[in-house]
Amino acid sequence: MKCSLLFACFAVILVLSLKPSNALKKMEVNLGQSQMLKCDMSYHHEINWIRMDDQAKPKTLMVMGLKNDGAMSVAWNFNDSHFEGCVVDRFIGLRIYQVSESDLATYFCAASHNKRMEFGEGIRLQTPEKLTQHGQGNVYNTVMLLISTTIIYWFI
Ligand SMILES: *[C@@H]1O[C@H](CO)[C@@H](O)[C@H](O)[C@H]1NC(C)=O
Repeated sequence: MKCSLLFACFAVILVLSLKPSNALKKMEVNLGQSQMLKCDMSYHHEINWIRMDDQAKPKTLMVMGLKNDGAMSVAWNFNDSHFEGCVVDRFIGLRIYQVSESDLATYFCAASHNKRMEFGEGIRLQTPEKLTQHGQGNVYNTVMLLISTTIIYWFI
């Protein structure tokens, strides 16, 4: 009886400590630094870099591709003093100069493929401070663990 109760409590703790899985890749950056984001799609396509702000409004930042000679061709740059295209490890990247508050958003690269857009993995750009806020989830889990343990001791 006690054993099954203990088991049930541990099951509850386990469920409580599971966080919803987040498909977005997170990337830490300090304001004022430059940051490079790598597109996980083939560089044979024309690549669009899209930023989505907290209101989930998408904005195209850059459209670029590679010419036959391997040189980069930029078809569109929303702000060429702020963004630059680059090629890294055979992938197309977006370099952001002097990351500011408004750059802390979610980025996608997309390629037009057979007349439809295909999207790469999303990257969430955030400052280390924001990650600490995220760490409050761990505090919550610890408190829940302590409460659950107390309940277990009560029953034994
Ligand atoms: C373009 O980038 C520069 C340098 O980061 C910035 O000062 C300026 O406000 C940006 N312009 C727009 C329209 O976002």
